[in-house]
Amino acid sequence: MNEKIAQIEKKMLKDLEEVKDLKSLEKVRIAYLGKKSMLAELMKSIKDLSPEKKREYGPLVNALRASMQDKIAQKNDYFEDNFNALSEWIDVTAPGQRVTRGHLHPLTIVQRDIEKIFTTMGFVIADGPEIETEFFNFDAVNMPDNHPARDMQDTFWIHAEKNVRHVLRTHTSNVQVRYMQEHTPPFRMIVPGRVFRQEATDASHEHTFHQFETLVVGKSISVANFLHIAESFFSQFFHAEIKIRVRPSYFPFVEPGFEFDISCTNCEGSGCSTCQRTGWIEVGGAGMVHQNVFLAAGYEKNKYTGFAWGFGLERLAMMRYKIDDIRHFHGGDIRFATQF
Ligand code: DAH
Repeated sequence: MNEKIAQIEKKMLKDLEEVKDLKSLEKVRIAYLGKKSMLAELMKSIKDLSPEKKREYGPLVNALRASMQDKIAQKNDYFEDNFNALSEWIDVTAPGQRVTRGHLHPLTIVQRDIEKIFTTMGFVIADGPEIETEFFNFDAVNMPDNHPARDMQDTFWIHAEKNVRHVLRTHTSNVQVRYMQEHTPPFRMIVPGRVFRQEATDASHEHTFHQFETLVVGKSISVANFLHIAESFFSQFFHAEIKIRVRPSYFPFVEPGFEFDISCTNCEGSGCSTCQRTGWIEVGGAGMVHQNVFLAAGYEKNKYTGFAWGFGLERLAMMRYKIDDIRHFHGGDIRFATQF
């Protein structure tokens, strides 16, 4: 009997400890003090005991009941004082705490838009290393050692390995021959990516910036294909009808090479301050892939034709969002970054 009393008490104390609210407290009360509880049974069984035993255990069982009632009442008071709906007053009209959400950097937004437009036109997105060998960055794209064209790009040379010179890639054109070595034409691909130049920085020059390269190779690719793809890309990107103009220029990896302009996104070609009253905005370089580049990739000479173009992502973002200084992109100023 003694043991049973101790057992019930121990179990109840443990259950009481786990009680979290008034509702579960009521369950404990019913389980231990209710009509069908173990305590009720215990009391019933006392009736059948001899008078001496009754005298011995009666007070013990009564004491147990009293202590259980007491403990449950204490717990009840505690919940009523602290968690009762009436005592817990909440001002539901008070403003909440605003959670600031992160968001994409403007360059990421622009890059994703570009990728989306090109993938819907059937282009593949290719990638290449930022630390590049001299071969893929220069020689493979028809810029051999001592070629004066190398001076057009202010290069960060690094010595990663003995006997092989490496550079922080100066343009995304480094992926052209890498991709060609792995794929057989026809193909169309773009390479968005980070590039590096040893620049004296100013509002339009930065040592670390982004370009994206476009390369289409096949049996009879022509300048007309370039014009069409470029027009459709820029029109989709700026949500306007954009025209393309090409001017002869020189890049070692294309022949013929040209620079190309788009009709001004601000005045639609009539002339304004954005386009210096010319109606055109210069955006990038392009041309028909030089046969030497195909040779570097291991293709047979004159078997394929293709066009390539390349230009700066920052420039597109600056035009779209009317940003006047390229240094804002990596400046880390939160007031700039949170505007997009
Ligand atoms: N790689 C050149 C640069 O960074 C840009 C360029 C010009 C890329 C003409 C091309 C191209 O693919 O055909 O200045």
